[in-house]
Amino acid sequence: MADIAILGHGVVGSGVMEVIEGHRESLFERAKEEINVKHILDLRDFPDLPYSDKFTKSFDDIIGDDSVRIVVEVMGGLHPAYDYVKACLESGKSVVTSNKELVATKGAELLRIARENNLNFLFEASVGGGIPIIRPISQCLAANDVAEIAGILNGTTNFILTKMIRDKMDFAEALKLAQENGYAERDPSADVGGEDSCRKICILASLAFGHHVYPDEVYTQGITEITLEDVGYAKAWGGVIKLIGQVKMLGNRKLHIIVAPMFISEESQLAHVDDVFNGIMVRGDATGDVVFYGKGAGKLPTASAVVADIIDCIKHFKARKYLFWEDAKPDYIEDYKLAKMNFFLHINTPDKEKTMRSLEDAFEKVRRVIRDNENENELGVVISDVSFAELDEKKAHIEKDGARLLGRIVISEF
Ligand code: HSE
Repeated sequence: MADIAILGHGVVGSGVMEVIEGHRESLFERAKEEINVKHILDLRDFPDLPYSDKFTKSFDDIIGDDSVRIVVEVMGGLHPAYDYVKACLESGKSVVTSNKELVATKGAELLRIARENNLNFLFEASVGGGIPIIRPISQCLAANDVAEIAGILNGTTNFILTKMIRDKMDFAEALKLAQENGYAERDPSADVGGEDSCRKICILASLAFGHHVYPDEVYTQGITEITLEDVGYAKAWGGVIKLIGQVKMLGNRKLHIIVAPMFISEESQLAHVDDVFNGIMVRGDATGDVVFYGKGAGKLPTASAVVADIIDCIKHFKARKYLFWEDAKPDYIEDYKLAKMNFFLHINTPDKEKTMRSLEDAFEKVRRVIRDNENENELGVVISDVSFAELDEKKAHIEKDGARLLGRIVISEF
């Protein structure tokens, strides 16, 4: 029998219990041991649950119990999750977590502690909910040099954008619906602000390229400023808007990594990843593009990935899995402002023709996009092969003669 403890009984924690209770026999067959949840840590009381006797409010009951070999951390947030996970690994307990903030900010350190103690620190559920992505990158695609990863990594924002695109629903209403479905973070600003996607692309980048990328090194833009007008322009251009996390290895062995809403062509597979689904494209030198698709958020999809990690921990208790990365040298991340890209610009102007002429003076390639029901003063253009830095430098040209830049959206090339 494998005694385990669960830290947290929120959406994911209660889902883990539901999966374990509901699949006892098949889990036993796969793990070759019965999974016995001995303790559940939560500050709240759950007197009506059939397993209410397992609850404790004290972490000491868990860290002091030598029979507990595996601890599942599903509390979320950095503190006290980090302190508890570190203490568990230091006292000989393997850890499974769904906590992307923890892995994205403390992964290198926790993986090192796990390695020093010959334990596992597994986090399949931290990216893509129920989609297998951590193991495929670290094992199945291990023969490839990964060149690029681009993904829709946040279910909540994809759900909101889908509602805006399909139903013209407003942002607040769509967010409320996402929260009711248990997709959003406790603080949904991490979803809509892009931080959640950022943490996930950091984890994938660290895993694929072997060096830790920290969230505060990554340019991150969320979807709070995306309007129904932008959605209309994306359609006129031939695509949709998606919040994308992207990382690429450059020729100088530095990483280009950003999180931003992007125009995605109708022809891209990622354009058809809708609702709460996530889609992750991994470009390998041998495999070409491999796309992972599935429910990226929600109680049971995420719990399923956590329980799979528990089984893996039980089966490999004395054999550490090869998930590892270490800290990078300074300057590992290329300044995002230098990368050449294509952009959509949304401009308000009293004179469209004049503004077009200023744009053509300032940039080599400028193409107009006209959306349905465009307002009299609205101008949409695509400019090619420019960087964020050049856009900043040339803002005065864009805003000449009373024009105002309302928004700029990266155009993806995948
Ligand atoms: N809030 C996250 C999302 C949950 O919407 O994708 C899964 O990580």
